Amino acid sequence: MYVPAPSRYGAMTYRRVGRSGLRLPALSLGLWHNFGGDAVHENARAMCRTAFDLGITHFDLANNYGPPPGSAEEAFGRILRTDFGGLRDELVISSKAGYRMWDGPYGEWGSRKYLIASCDQSLKRTGLEYFDIFYSHRFDPDTPLEETMGALDAIVRAGKALYVGISSYTSEQTARAAAILRDLGTPCLIHQPRYSILGRWTERDGLLDRLETEGMGCISFSPLAQGMLSAKYLNGIPAGSRAASGKLAASILNDEAIRRLRGLNEVAAARGQSLAQMAVAYVLRDPRMTSALVGASRPEQIRDSVGALANTAFSAGELAQIEELAFESEDW
Ligand SMILES: NC(=O)c1ccc[n+]([C@@H]2O[C@H](COP(=O)([O-])OP(=O)(O)OC[C@H]3O[C@@H](n4cnc5c(N)ncnc54)[C@H](OP(=O)(O)O)[C@@H]3O)[C@@H](O)[C@H]2O)c1
Repeated sequence: MYVPAPSRYGAMTYRRVGRSGLRLPALSLGLWHNFGGDAVHENARAMCRTAFDLGITHFDLANNYGPPPGSAEEAFGRILRTDFGGLRDELVISSKAGYRMWDGPYGEWGSRKYLIASCDQSLKRTGLEYFDIFYSHRFDPDTPLEETMGALDAIVRAGKALYVGISSYTSEQTARAAAILRDLGTPCLIHQPRYSILGRWTERDGLLDRLETEGMGCISFSPLAQGMLSAKYLNGIPAGSRAASGKLAASILNDEAIRRLRGLNEVAAARGQSLAQMAVAYVLRDPRMTSALVGASRPEQIRDSVGALANTAFSAGELAQIEELAFESEDW
């Protein structure tokens, strides 16, 4: 039987989500890869236990995580039953709907029809009575935003979620969504954008300023750029990595990219951090960032990433060096 580490809450920093009453761990665990039907269940289970032992109380899902779609929610539901039975109130569990989940015109995007049905399916797969946070996974240009936000509000009023969030909405779309939800009486808790040293659209878009104005939190996904920001690719593509499996385009790793990653690795070493740790720290350097949402393929990676929290401050010189070496791609 799993007995959680008594030290777990001393080991983690918790940050307030915007101006809400909720706090999230500075590091959260996402279940996009390595928790599906193609994964080794005992490894997935070990990662959840390791995370919780380190004070990671927040686990992030979506309807389509797998493969096959839905299987990560099913696997996490099993782990909840075998290991976290009496611990529901110590966990913040999120899920999302927005991407293609089932055939036909009602299986994706932002209609009320799709969002409410998908939330019900996700609850069934996980065996949960409610999600702590339920997200609109992407902005739908063809559905009135009032309808999408109205569906999130209805999900909360039906007791199927405690809070709602949005993912990958621009600043302008975020302001509109937040205003609609505020009028409905269900504040928008949090935004989940992609953000890392190698993915900076949120800076150009002024997203954190907008979220501060709205009183919303921010949890950044892929802070390690899917593993690019780690030492693993500095000397080729190791077996078992995301690039080796084809889930991350190996073609990104050209000579110039590797030169830059090696440079970033040296900046991290001078800070006494692994490259992965510096990548997590970079995302968290702004106190308005609530949490860095990492993925992992092994429990040791979670331990390594938590080590980032020991130093999330950057000197002007370090930031300038990082700026010089950073490069962007739409592939992560
Ligand atoms: N809202 C959205 O649209 C959206 C989109 C994408 C992701 N997400 C969420 O964000 C979560 C994280 O995304 P992500 O998996 O792309 O995040 P990530 O943290 O950037 O990448 C995770 C990968 O990096 C490698 N890694 C992690 N820690 C490491 C360490 N300490 N040292 C060396 N390598 C390490 C592992 O790669 P290997 O597998 O190669 O070992 C791991 O699978 C997802 O699970 C999901 O919950 C949301």
